[in-house]
Amino acid sequence: MKLSDAKATLTFSDGRPSVELPIYQGSIGPEVIDIRKLYGQTGMFTYDPGFLSTASCQSAITYIDGDKGELLYRGYPIEQVARKCDFLDACYLLLKGELPTAEQSREFHKDIANHMMVHEQVRYFLRGFRRDAHPMAVLTGLVGALSAFSHDMHDVSNSEHREHAATLLIAQIPTLAAMAYKYSRGQPYVYPDHSLSYAGNFLKMMFATPCAPYEVNPVLERAMDRIFILHADHEQNASTSTVRLCGSSGTNPLAAVAAGVACLWGPAHGGANEACLNMLETIQREGGVAKLGEFIAKVKDKNSGVRLMGFGHRVYKNYDPRAKLMQETCNEVLGELGLENDPLFALAKALEKVALEDEYFVERKLYPNVDFYSGIVQRAIGIPVNMFTGVFALARTVGWFAQLNEMLEDPEYKIGRPRQLFTGSQRRDIA
Ligand code: SDX
Repeated sequence: MKLSDAKATLTFSDGRPSVELPIYQGSIGPEVIDIRKLYGQTGMFTYDPGFLSTASCQSAITYIDGDKGELLYRGYPIEQVARKCDFLDACYLLLKGELPTAEQSREFHKDIANHMMVHEQVRYFLRGFRRDAHPMAVLTGLVGALSAFSHDMHDVSNSEHREHAATLLIAQIPTLAAMAYKYSRGQPYVYPDHSLSYAGNFLKMMFATPCAPYEVNPVLERAMDRIFILHADHEQNASTSTVRLCGSSGTNPLAAVAAGVACLWGPAHGGANEACLNMLETIQREGGVAKLGEFIAKVKDKNSGVRLMGFGHRVYKNYDPRAKLMQETCNEVLGELGLENDPLFALAKALEKVALEDEYFVERKLYPNVDFYSGIVQRAIGIPVNMFTGVFALARTVGWFAQLNEMLEDPEYKIGRPRQLFTGSQRRDIA
């Protein structure tokens, strides 16, 4: 980051001495006012619940221009990464900052393939869960449990250890997610198959059974790979900030990522794809397109507590570029499966049209986000609704590690420890 010639001056209307604050510039995007010395100079904190105007770190990984609806992975537009790379090359890009050469790509694909099989004892962790446990609860537990298997291998001050932890979990998270699904179905686990791609392996581990040969459908394989790419990283979102804050204590990196899985589960974040599909199914049950007006009226009524899931975003005040790519994938998958007239897809497109023409959404700049169509694609592929966020977590594992490792490599990083505006009781004694 570069120190700007300009400075920010904070003046107080009650005559308190003004304060000059440095301004830093990044390579693109908003400048920042460096307030690190503010408390020391004024005895005051800044106040920004939800961090709407706060940059928590400097990062070179992912850039979002919310007004333009632009998303760059290490400078490359998501549209190009989604169309010209596979997920593992996108992982390499996010982790290392550059796209791999053909040789580096081969090596990385092979390294991931060689680590996809989990320790046989992992299946004992699954046995502790009820069969109907939510897959995100299971994944939170399994990722955390993995930290017990490799704690001695992961000294976060050692860059090779950090790289190994990333490779291990990027490789094993599809296996863990598929095991969570198989366990819920009472079906035998399927081992990874080195002859398949990363996405092809996930589909086979999810849907193959010992009773019949399983052929990976190339259109579904490509769709799965694109879903992974679109969810891989997204700047300082809630779960990534969770991983950074958790990791800032120097804890085991897998334990820090388990915290990210837990955060992603929420319906305001990664859980929105599951919530969005449930919303569409409810509207469908209650009358479908004919009932859209009624539903939109509920959404606009603050007292209803109803939100249009899959719409709106803290950063995008334009169309989420991932939603456009996801809709494209939706068309491809539904076409391949002969589901072009899928009623839920038609309902989603009708709902999007109504919302985009409604003043309530227009004035609040609420557009479809990545979660609006991802559920429809996954449902068409055969992934159950309660597994959607698990797929999101699978894909976001690389982003969590890229961001965690970037923080740990930043010489300026400190343990995260925000302060507060205290509004509780002043000092008092027990009578
Ligand atoms: C993800 O951060 C990331 O990058 C996340 C993510 C990633 O890749 O990591 O992109 C993934 O989490 C996408 C977002 C998925 N969540 C949803 O789709 C849930 C539905 N969306 C919302 O709950 C909401 O839009 C958020 C949480 C996404 C953003 O909320 P903000 O920025 O805190 O905005 P807000 O709640 O302050 O809303 C501003 C206004 C309010 O109305 P007013 O009080 O101004 O009248 O917009 C309204 C809100 O009521 N609003 C919505 C709405 N989203 C915002 N009204 C109806 N439906 C919605 N979905």
